[in-house]
Amino acid sequence: MALAGSDAGANPAASTEKWSSRFAFIMAAVGSAVGLGNLWRFPAETGVNGGGAFVIFYIFCVVLIGLPVLLSETLIGRAGQSSAIESMKNVARKSGASPLWSLGAAVGMVGAFLILTFYSVIAGWVIYYAGVFINDVSSSLSSGNISGGAFAGMNADAIQDILPALHKNADMMIAMHALFMAITIFVVARGVHGGIEKVAVWLMPMFFLLFLGVTIYSLSTGDTSRALDFLFSFDAQRLLDPKVQLSALGQALFSLSLGSAMMITYGSYASRDTNLAKTSGMIATADTSVAIIAGLAIFPIVFAAGLSAEGGPTLLFATLPTAFQSMPFGSIIGLLFFVMVFFAALTSSVALLEASVSWAVTRFNANRAMLAVGFGLVAFVIGTWASFSFNSQSKLYLLNFGIFEEQNVFNFLDKLTGSVLLPVSALLVAIFVGWVADKQLVDEENGMSGAPHMIWRFLIAWLCPLVIGVILITGLFPQIVG
Ligand code: PHE
Repeated sequence: MALAGSDAGANPAASTEKWSSRFAFIMAAVGSAVGLGNLWRFPAETGVNGGGAFVIFYIFCVVLIGLPVLLSETLIGRAGQSSAIESMKNVARKSGASPLWSLGAAVGMVGAFLILTFYSVIAGWVIYYAGVFINDVSSSLSSGNISGGAFAGMNADAIQDILPALHKNADMMIAMHALFMAITIFVVARGVHGGIEKVAVWLMPMFFLLFLGVTIYSLSTGDTSRALDFLFSFDAQRLLDPKVQLSALGQALFSLSLGSAMMITYGSYASRDTNLAKTSGMIATADTSVAIIAGLAIFPIVFAAGLSAEGGPTLLFATLPTAFQSMPFGSIIGLLFFVMVFFAALTSSVALLEASVSWAVTRFNANRAMLAVGFGLVAFVIGTWASFSFNSQSKLYLLNFGIFEEQNVFNFLDKLTGSVLLPVSALLVAIFVGWVADKQLVDEENGMSGAPHMIWRFLIAWLCPLVIGVILITGLFPQIVG
């Protein structure tokens, strides 16, 4: 059933923008999914959570929870034809249910906004590192040694010191964060066609090209077997650890951009002839492959350099420069690497900002550019506050219990979104699509039939709510299980 004419007339929130092609939709959605979540957060979380057990549970969550929820979110968007919250309200109304179900999208929207705050800080580090490598390329060019490694003549300690030095230089860190946020605002202000889609269609293919190059290179030179061992061998005890499970669930949702209102928003721009089930499969496959391959590329370097896998948020930045030092053409490869990470980060940050901007555009009928600037500025300020976590000695703990125990502002925001807001939003979406939304309406949107359809129905109605619910409770209150 399409939106009834009277509905659309009474509802200024009906969305008008559409992707110009299926390719554009796929690139934008894959661009939103593939980002710092794969290249920075996945290796960091894997290291902190002990490797194999985390990775196995993460893959379990991607296939059995992420994929069904991804399809559910895009179909809510396309059936609701508006920003995330309004779309969910529209579907609820058409199903004769309470519009309060849109709380699921609202929680996700707040989550996406809070992710943007710290995401931009890390993306700022990426820009800074690209700058470091540009310098290095130019100095190796002038010394006629471009085929050698990066940072010629620098000792290992000095290289390890690049990141702590940046952390001490608060002005620089904030300037880079500001620059990245400004670029994000600029793209979102230009709209779905003129901004988001253009960036995705150009940058994502370039990203994949660079990613392929860097991966082939690192797999052929690094200690892959040790990395494979770390990523896939696990002890069963850790697999049952509720904190590991909650982190893995959070990482799966974060990486697929789920539980963040965002895939609902992008789904609303999809045309009727796009098969949402197939597209969801492609997005999940691309996203998960990039994460695993990034792990395979990064851990050999970590081990070869004798560094600890538990570096957390700093892992990517502390380890890679060391590796580029011992690679032929290290400065150029290092530069390409950080350019590639920047592309991936930008196509994700515009999605993060778009979730709230599109809501405000439809809700208040207001100017998109002004809203992008407004939301972006607030996110910038909160992000700046979070960035102090890296350069001040005195730690600020916002909530000091459970998973939040002794977490600085930065880690607090990361945990609040990944381990609370995204899972709660995904849980509400699953219950909504599995039980509340009109079956006929849902089935018209999902593009599936036969056995796959039945499996999806079972997963979204039973397995997803149950597993997300249990993991949330046991992960947040581990004392319950023991
Ligand atoms: N999925 C993105 C990444 O992996 C982050 C993101 C989360 C983007 C939620 C949009 C919404 O980097």
